[in-house]
This record gives sequence, structure tokens and C-alpha cells, in this order.
Amino acid sequence: MRNISRVVVLSLSIIVLLSSTTHSIYLKPESHIKSATFVSENFEVGPGQIAVKNFWDIEFPKGHVGVKSFDVELIDEDGNSVPLYETYFHHWFAIKYFENITLSRNIEQYHDLRNGIVFQRNSGACQGYMLPHYWGLGGESRGTSSNLPDPFAVELGNPTKIPNGFKEKWLFNIMAIDTRGAYDRKGCSECRCNLFNLPNNFYNVTNGIDGKPLSLNYKGGLLCCQDNLQCKLRKGFDGPRRKLSLRYKIRWVDWDEHQVPLKFYILDATDRVKSNGSTTIHDCKVEYTIPRIHDSDSPNVQKASIPMENGGYLIYATTHMHTGVVNATLYGQKIFLSNSFSSDGRVLCTSTPKYGMGKEAGNEKGYLVGMSVCYPKPGSIKIEDGEILTLESRYENQFRTGAMGHFYIYLAEQLPNKDIKD
Ligand SMILES: *[C@@H]1O[C@H](CO)[C@@H](O)[C@H](O)[C@H]1NC(C)=O
Ligand SMILES: *[C@@H]1O[C@H](CO)[C@@H](O)[C@H](O)[C@H]1NC(C)=O
Ligand SMILES: *[C@@H]1O[C@H](CO)[C@@H](O)[C@H](O)[C@H]1NC(C)=O
Ligand SMILES: *[C@@H]1O[C@H](CO)[C@@H](O)[C@H](O)[C@H]1NC(C)=O
Repeated sequence: MRNISRVVVLSLSIIVLLSSTTHSIYLKPESHIKSATFVSENFEVGPGQIAVKNFWDIEFPKGHVGVKSFDVELIDEDGNSVPLYETYFHHWFAIKYFENITLSRNIEQYHDLRNGIVFQRNSGACQGYMLPHYWGLGGESRGTSSNLPDPFAVELGNPTKIPNGFKEKWLFNIMAIDTRGAYDRKGCSECRCNLFNLPNNFYNVTNGIDGKPLSLNYKGGLLCCQDNLQCKLRKGFDGPRRKLSLRYKIRWVDWDEHQVPLKFYILDATDRVKSNGSTTIHDCKVEYTIPRIHDSDSPNVQKASIPMENGGYLIYATTHMHTGVVNATLYGQKIFLSNSFSSDGRVLCTSTPKYGMGKEAGNEKGYLVGMSVCYPKPGSIKIEDGEILTLESRYENQFRTGAMGHFYIYLAEQLPNKDIKD
């Protein structure tokens, strides 16, 4: 049996807008936004310990819905928010999959997850299962809005899109690093290899994200942050083990003809886009190391140019970054002699950081606690099919491992039709 406690809060909001014209009425559809707060399975960590976990078949709104927001934070056994300097919440990813109904009993009884599951990635173009999630952030979760403006939403649970014999389900993939008593809190949060009790043959037996053997130059990042490893503690530090969980709040509407679907893309600043002549090949490395350049004040810039096979209207944009970020910008394509694109390398969005100033969860001093979100007026920014977007991820000029620069964008392929009735 899964051990899931659950709190459900339902709220309803009804908004009706009437235009002042006499012969045509624009009646905004009633928007019945529902909302629920769930608590995931728990996991246990001691001081300095890493937890990398998958929680399968998490609680999720049922039926054909349009999700408006998805917010997650880490809590302790009493339901209190856990601050980042105690447990650094490296990431949480909400990942969609289809499960073969015939095999569901096996999966539940024997935890045999190898068969009967088909992962469903987002619309982003990273290769394979790199960055597959629909929602996901890290330390900046509490201060980064995931709200989608009306009438836009992420359409899920559409029975015509789920193959016969399968059920749509969700899992969390998470990484949390307990840094209580850490000898080097920042280093542990950045997954610095020399701080962890890695096995002696670590570099001999570990492959990188690209599948090739790890180089001895690999100083830190996801591969050194493995489940149960231990980060170096201050001498004599002792602290209790504790149980943590994810508390997540989802807001949604029941799907109807008034909702406009959005597609979700993740663009990675490390994506080295190539072509083999006929097909664009993506090579997302997910994270990177920032060297410190002496005698320079300029930020480090990691840049990628990524063609968008399908464009759309930009409705929402933000970024997933780590502490040390200066800002990140997404640009449209620069075209000099063409009338096919109206684009001139325009700025589509700059996302800027918020750093904490205090002690309480959500405002931890020195930590990245939020990234700003761009909400262009719907219809005002159009990305063309085939347009090449350029993303620049800027960090302070300081040695840093496991840095990330991920742009999250939602595109609408159509806009709402305002002339509901004449
Ligand atoms: C589900 O798994 C069973 C057993 O392996 C298989 O016979 C069946 O075809 C699968 N169903 C679908 C819809 O793929
Ligand atoms: C790892 O590989 C190196 C060189 O390939 C070798 O010298 C070393 O003994 C190996 N270490 C372990 C612990 O296997
Ligand atoms: C390019 O890659 C695609 C996808 O892997 C493949 O189908 C296609 O045959 C390749 N084309 C060439 C010219 O190698
Ligand atoms: C982003 O950072 C760069 C480099 O420091 C700076 O020049 C630029 O003005 C910043 N942009 C915004 C919108 O803050």
C-alpha cells in the first residue's frame, strides 16, 4: 500500500466579463478553477545525505482537464516548509507516462516497472528522455509562478489521446541534498564530487550523460549526486535523520471548448544542435561547469541556437537556473533579407533572479529563491515554424559545477476566438 496522506481543498472562482457594446456581447466563459493540495510519499535523509527518488503513480486530477498551475515544495513530517540551507531541493520533475492496464497489478504488486510503461515527454526537442518533464523546478520553486493565464491551459487526460488499454499516470523524479552540518554547503548543493563518499572506482565505472566514460576532469554535477551518497560534514556534527515529503498544489479546470491548449517546451543552453542533412539532431547535456576566468568581471555566457519545428504564440516563459545566475534571455531569429520572418533577433523574454535575504523558507539568504516569469500579451509575440531561437544563460564569473540554463516556454498554436456570438 502506498502511504499517501492527502488534503484536498476545492475552490471555485467564477468570472464573467461583459463588454459594453450594444449589439455584440463577449461573454468570457465561466472559469471554474479547482484546486487541490497533495502530499507525496516520504523519504528519509540524515545530515549530508542525498536522496534521488522516483515516486510512481502520484495523485493527480482525474478526467479530461486543463492544468493551470503546478507548485511544489519540500516539507517535514509536521508539514513545515523546509528551508534550502537544511535540505537543498535540487529538482523535482513531474513526468507523464502511459501504463498498460493489464500489467498494472503486476506493477503494483511486484514493483516491476520495466514492462508496460511508455514515457510521454514534453514537446521540447532534447534527445531521448533528456528533460522529459511537464513541470519541474528546484530551489527556486517557491518564488517562481507556474500560473497560466485564461483561457490557456495544459490539456491532459483526453481519452481520445490515450491509447486503448493504457492509463495516463504521473511520477515525480526528485533530488534533495541534506546540507545540515555540511563542511561546504555550497559545494554539496552543487554536487562537487570531491565532497562525496564516491566508490574508489567511480571514474572507472561511471558513464556521463552522453553515455561515454566519465572524464577525470568531471568535478561535479548530477553524476556525483547519487542516491544515498554522503556529503562531507563538519567534524563532530550530529543531527537527527528526518522524513521529508513533497507538498504540491495543482489548479485546473475541466476541459471544455473555451480552453485553449498550450504546448510546453524546454530549451537547454547546452544543446549542441547538429544536422545530418535531413534531420536536426539535438545534444542536450542538461548541465555544465563554469570555469572561473581571472581578471574578468563579465558573466559567463552559455549559448544555444535551437530551431523550433513548430512555432506558436508565446504565452509564458521562465527559466530553471541555479544560485549564481545573473539572468537568462531568449531571442528570436535574426533575419536580414527575408520577408518570411518578421524577426530581428528581438528579445522574447529575459528572466531575472530573486535572491533570498533572510532565514525563512522561500527567502533563504544567498540562495536563488525565484526566477521572474514573462507573460507577453497573448498574440503579441509569434514564433514562426522553423524559427531559430537563441538562448543565453548568464552566471557570475565563479567556478561552479552542475550549472543549468533551461528555458521553459508555453506556446499556443491558436488564439482564443473572441467572437463567440454576433
Ligand atoms: C499489455 O500487456 C499485455 C501483457 O504483456 C499484452 O498482451 C498487451 O498487448 C498489452 N496491451 C497493450 C494495449 O499494449
Ligand atoms: C581505474 O582505471 C585506471 C586507469 O584506467 C587504473 O589505473 C585504476 O587502477 C583503476 N582503478 C580502479 C579502482 O579500478
Ligand atoms: C538522419 O537521422 C535520421 C534520424 O535518426 C535518420 O532517419 C536519417 O536516415 C539520417 N539521415 C542521414 C542522411 O544520415
Ligand atoms: C542581463 O545580464 C546582462 C549581463 O550582466 C546585462 O547586461 C543585462 O542588462 C541583463 N538584462 C536584464 C534585463 O536584466
